[in-house]
Amino acid sequence: MGFKIKNICCIGAGYVGGPTMAVIADNCPHLKINVVDINLERINLWNSSNLNELPIYEPGLDKIIERCRGKNLFFSNELETNIAIADMIFISVNTPTKNKGLGAGKASDLKWVELCARKVAKYARGYTIVVEKSTLPVRTAEVIKNILEAAELESNEKDIKFDVLSNPEFLAEGSAIKDLEFPDRVLIGGENEDAILCLSNIYSLWVEKNKILHTNIWSSELAKLTANAFLAQRISSINSISALCEATGADVREVARAIGTDNRIGSKFLDSGPGFGGSCFKKDILNLVYLSNYFGLPEVAEFWEGIVKLNNWHQHRISKLIVKKLFGTVSGKKICILGFAFKANTNDTRESAAINICNDLLEEGAVLFIHDPKVDPKQIEKDLDRKENIQLKGYKDSNFYEFEGNWCSINDINSASQGSDAIVVLTEWKEYSLLDWVEISKKMRKPAWVFDVRSIITREKLTNLNLNFWQIGDGSEY
Ligand code: NAD
Ligand code: UGA
Repeated sequence: MGFKIKNICCIGAGYVGGPTMAVIADNCPHLKINVVDINLERINLWNSSNLNELPIYEPGLDKIIERCRGKNLFFSNELETNIAIADMIFISVNTPTKNKGLGAGKASDLKWVELCARKVAKYARGYTIVVEKSTLPVRTAEVIKNILEAAELESNEKDIKFDVLSNPEFLAEGSAIKDLEFPDRVLIGGENEDAILCLSNIYSLWVEKNKILHTNIWSSELAKLTANAFLAQRISSINSISALCEATGADVREVARAIGTDNRIGSKFLDSGPGFGGSCFKKDILNLVYLSNYFGLPEVAEFWEGIVKLNNWHQHRISKLIVKKLFGTVSGKKICILGFAFKANTNDTRESAAINICNDLLEEGAVLFIHDPKVDPKQIEKDLDRKENIQLKGYKDSNFYEFEGNWCSINDINSASQGSDAIVVLTEWKEYSLLDWVEISKKMRKPAWVFDVRSIITREKLTNLNLNFWQIGDGSEY
């Protein structure tokens, strides 16, 4: 058909839209890419001359932005004009779980996707390929198509025409750039072979052809939900085993190594931790649960819902365990929390296990000193729905009773450990594996506890330091 893509527009400048378009721009200098978003504050940060201010922290992203921004990659809030000139439009907006109405608590809220489809229907000109990049319930392409087809019929312009493709994104935060540059696969679902080829041709500039998979549109949509459900299922599986290890004298790392050497199981995604977080696992599984029920498959729905239930139970299990070890009460006790992001190498805190665990401890009256190298304390305030108590920062006494249920952010872990009763590692930031435990131990109030929920501290580092040590899934105390 010979249709040539010159201008791309991506609607949504978030954790997916930003890095994905940056990598496409970097590999396709002949394409002009406009990333648009209604959130002007976010757009301004994408355009900031200080690359440390980009709205998203991803290793390697700043370098690509520096290379491409202003050359063939542009960030703005001008949706209409950029939609009008685009040959291909990626929809990369958020699809959170619905919080009211039909399917509340499970189904995805497609409000933002529908808004985008309507905007595209109104402003697009000529032939436009619309690509679903957001993770969507099966058969969403039909909704988008309906809206676009209505526009085709209404249009006075004879040549207005659309094709819809599904091209779900599999990047993981913290390794987004690597995942985009060296993907395991690129999945493209659609009906029109020419449109599929247009998108394949873009990816084939840096991805091997045999890794670009073509499927029908519904398989593509469902494959994305299924991939996340399988990954999350592994984490709930290993976390359930960690509890059993602690109860029986086994060690979850040894169990994981033993089963991971079986090729059929594989060694990845077997790290027990505080429970999975992130914006997608829970939302995508709940979406699968909703769809299964909708299509009359309650047993399937129940199976997948169990993964989310286990994850929730596991997060609260950790906070209960901390309280139990600290003589059944954390009221007025100082606890240092290391890590608030849902995983290392990201500033994202959405659904982070730290939120539930910290909230539980605050409810019990603990005084939390929270450290994270990338998360803004303002974000922690939002997540915990409690203001940071700045007064705490300068407080020198080891008696924290008057601050029960308060928290503050910290930059220096060593000095913050002064007078603390416990240190809890919730995110696997590399710097937490390099802490000077000799110095920290001198400062903590005894008997003191170290809770390593991410298996990043070696037991030997704490020997003879008069510290009690608990590690996830370690049954050695049994
Ligand atoms: P995000 O919340 O970080 O970004 C979405 C952006 O879309 C926001 O900046 C928002 O302002 C913008 N937006 C919403 N409605 C808009 C509209 N009508 N017009 C213009 N802009 C609009 O979300 P995200 O993490 O980038 O996720 C986006 C989608 O990608 C979701 O469906 C998610 O499930 C999927 N996904 C996310 C990841 C991830 O690691 N975060 C990975 C793969 C897939
Ligand atoms: C996940 C998937 O890995 C991506 O393929 C997918 O594109 C993305 O969701 C999405 O659709 O949003 P992400 O949530 O960014 O990516 O990060 P993961 O590395 O999958 O980690 C998710 C959670 O599981 C984190 O809280 C992490 O700490 C936890 N996890 C992961 C473990 O507890 N143990 C592990 O072995 C692996």
